[in-house]
Amino acid sequence: MSDLMKAVACPNYGPPEVLQIKEIKKPIPKKNEVLVKIKNTSVNSGDCRVRGANFPPGFDIPARLILGIFKPRQKILGSTFSGVIESVGDEVTTLKKGDEVFGMSGVKMGAYAEYITIKEKSAISIKPKNLSFEEAAAMLFGGSTAIYFLKDLADIKEGQTVLINGASGAVGTAAIQIAKNLGAHVIGVCSTANVELVKSLGADEVIDYKKEDIFNLNNKYDVVVETVGNISIKKGKYLLKENGKLVLVVSSFADLLRASLLKHSVDGKRIQVLQGTALEKKDYLTYLIELFNQNKFKVIIDKTFSLDEMAEAHKYVETGHKAGNVVINVI
Ligand SMILES: NC(=O)c1ccc[n+]([C@@H]2O[C@H](COP(=O)([O-])OP(=O)(O)OC[C@H]3O[C@@H](n4cnc5c(N)ncnc54)[C@H](OP(=O)(O)O)[C@@H]3O)[C@@H](O)[C@H]2O)c1
Repeated sequence: MSDLMKAVACPNYGPPEVLQIKEIKKPIPKKNEVLVKIKNTSVNSGDCRVRGANFPPGFDIPARLILGIFKPRQKILGSTFSGVIESVGDEVTTLKKGDEVFGMSGVKMGAYAEYITIKEKSAISIKPKNLSFEEAAAMLFGGSTAIYFLKDLADIKEGQTVLINGASGAVGTAAIQIAKNLGAHVIGVCSTANVELVKSLGADEVIDYKKEDIFNLNNKYDVVVETVGNISIKKGKYLLKENGKLVLVVSSFADLLRASLLKHSVDGKRIQVLQGTALEKKDYLTYLIELFNQNKFKVIIDKTFSLDEMAEAHKYVETGHKAGNVVINVI
């Protein structure tokens, strides 16, 4: 069997055209790792940020310190995968050859390839039979981000009003469903084209940003989830009730600093600003599987591309107007 595999490399930061199909060495699993033959990966907003070194305002230097100053340190991008285990390291006990799995590889990335190695103890889980490989790869980025921010950080409670800005994206479509499952009253903000989609995922109310400005409605919410990048702390306080929570899934570096200095008060109004980088946990996969099996979580797939069409997929995702997720057929 060949020890080479096909992968999409990102040798430099730049436009989608920097992505190149390559033949590279197939990885070998360490003692505590499994080797997965990938069937599907996804292209996420985060992948486009890394490829284009297009980080939120002020994050350029910190992001480059982590990801590579002049070019990406990890040449193979892609952080979600579904596939079949081809071999396991000597110390692996819970997964075996032939298992259908899905998971996330974090900053190590490497999922734009035919094979990936990943630690048994990291965010990898057995894929339920009723969840397709495409859906499995698609649900992870938005799903785990929504669980981290809405369930773990914001600790959303039954009956709370939750406004989700960018309700039709990967994070937004998952956030609606996570918030509904936590018992919230959900208000989704999206464009006209996505109103029906957002309603179909359970949003109680939809605000079409092409027709109405959320700041002119004068409504106040318990929690505001920002996934677009146009609600700053200064603006967000107008949307929140006293003691409300502003969940900045995307924020500027200035707001990151402001949030830590604010001591929870903006111009005399007490609000809590929550932000950071979503974690990837096995528990999140378990939670998503539970919801999916109870028909409480739908995976939205907008478009599917082949591995060879990776640059096209990046161009599409980079528009910032995909609905839900974009999947790559690796095989
Ligand atoms: N902090 C973290 O750990 C973390 C984790 C994941 C993602 N993120 C960040 O979160 C952001 C969202 O990610 P994503 O993957 O969900 O992006 P995405 O899938 O590209 O979705 C963006 C959505 O925003 C909507 N949108 C665009 N302009 C809008 C506006 N003015 N008002 C309301 N909605 C608008 C688009 O819908 P229309 O087509 O209807 O306009 C689109 O569906 C990205 O910036 C990403 O980097 C951060």
